[in-house]
Amino acid sequence: MPAKLNRVMDDVDVLVVGSGVAGLSVALGLVPHLRVAVVAKEGAGGGSTQLAQGGIAAAVGPGDSSAFHAADTMAAAAGLCDPLVAQDVTAEAAEAIALLSRLGVRFDQGALAREGGHGRARVVHAKGDATGAEVSRALLQAVRQAGVPMARGFLVDLLSSPGREATVGAVIWDGSRLREVGARTVVLATGGYGQLWARTTSPEACSGDGLAAALRAGAQVADLEFVQFHPTGMDFGTDPRPLATEALRGAGARLRGADGGFINDDPALDLAPRDVVSRAMARRMGELGAKYCYLDATPVGEAVLATHFPTFTATCQGVGLDPAKQWVPVAPTAHYTIGGVLTDSLGCTTVPGLMAVGEVASSGLHGANRLASNSLLEGAVIGRRAARLLLSTGGTAPPRPPARVNEVVEHLGAGGTRANQGGPRLDRARLRSQMELGAGVSRDGEGLQRLSRQLTLPVVALPFQPGWELANMVLLGRLVAASAARRCESRGAHWRADYPSSHPDWRVRQVLQLETNGEVAVGNLEVPQPVPVAPALARASS
Ligand code: SIN
Repeated sequence: MPAKLNRVMDDVDVLVVGSGVAGLSVALGLVPHLRVAVVAKEGAGGGSTQLAQGGIAAAVGPGDSSAFHAADTMAAAAGLCDPLVAQDVTAEAAEAIALLSRLGVRFDQGALAREGGHGRARVVHAKGDATGAEVSRALLQAVRQAGVPMARGFLVDLLSSPGREATVGAVIWDGSRLREVGARTVVLATGGYGQLWARTTSPEACSGDGLAAALRAGAQVADLEFVQFHPTGMDFGTDPRPLATEALRGAGARLRGADGGFINDDPALDLAPRDVVSRAMARRMGELGAKYCYLDATPVGEAVLATHFPTFTATCQGVGLDPAKQWVPVAPTAHYTIGGVLTDSLGCTTVPGLMAVGEVASSGLHGANRLASNSLLEGAVIGRRAARLLLSTGGTAPPRPPARVNEVVEHLGAGGTRANQGGPRLDRARLRSQMELGAGVSRDGEGLQRLSRQLTLPVVALPFQPGWELANMVLLGRLVAASAARRCESRGAHWRADYPSSHPDWRVRQVLQLETNGEVAVGNLEVPQPVPVAPALARASS
């Protein structure tokens, strides 16, 4: 550690930033062998995990196997899933469920659920549509019992050794002062960047702080253009928008336009991949000039709504709607940000001493489109794998190999300085509405260029945390726009109306790196070829 750092808090071996399933899985895997602490800006358990209504996918049913699960994961990912990562994560899925049960998660007994894109029934739920809340409750209790120190704190930046050769700690804002925490390894588990969009299911905490700090620390990031829009974010005027889980459509709920007509005449099409359903809804909204569609959950029936969908039912009742009798306003909503810090399936980044797990990471599991209920799974599995690695190294994270980046895609020095005396300024609300317009469900080159111009407007000056968050959001917004503009094709969750098909040349991931001069370099990362699945296996899984 460089001696010049003036620490005002005890150093630790491992500092985990974020308290969702991924971060807490790392922390629990390290005690009592290493000194570990958890900081989270929203306080313990306040991120996306506790809101997750889907379950956890695992091949635990009769006749299922992790190879089938990996094959479904790759099929959803539209050519960009790293098959080795899919193999590693799905192989440990059953073990992850068993471990969570031992830690106190009360999973629902009985039939497994089959969700969109899964060839088998393999989704494990807890308390119906409250899986994330139950996982969060049990893990927080276990972490407290294990005596892991947890504190509320905002990650202002990572501390780097000279030349950004390694991460050596973090600067944390505790609400009244800045603290430096030294650590052999910092594990980012800060969640995604869903708050960049005006309509999102991601909580306020998801402003991409961990991802932006990793960029500033020299880490490579990948796949920023891939953002999964969920068809049924509930439009009750709240931020974030509560999710109406896809399982409702699996149980018979139908999508209707603002005029009451079905979005798809064939009910099976209501359960097509999320990007396809979201575009159909966006089209209907455009035709009708409406801000939302409806989810008609009346066919599900009062009894099933109460037993299987208590979170959805309570949310509707909270605004005076009875979903057994009334349609619920919904719209496509940014739900999961697939891009993140480039890692391997152990959570290692391209910078020694820095790891990333969960939604902040881009492990390559999700490719261009995430399979339902694979995100809690990824957090739990890679979190444990990261902990095992750290135990074997005494707490020091080795780097993964970097990708070759060779083309400048953005110059950050060019932002925030355009002379516009008295003209518009960029604040959080403006940024979010511009992202919705330019980088939403359907994108095109012109809209992305317009978005990029908007994101170089001077930024309003805000003190402390709101100011740091806004700066992070502007940085990430510009890089999402640049990545989406450069990918001249449609693939998975990234739809370009001006390039409506996929192109084989684009079967690559885009990796970005922020240089110290403010230039952002980009390169294409080849995706390993999938191991061919035997025809008999492929048939059985379809
Ligand atoms: C849902 O329940 O519809 C969302 C689950 C997920 O995003 O994996």
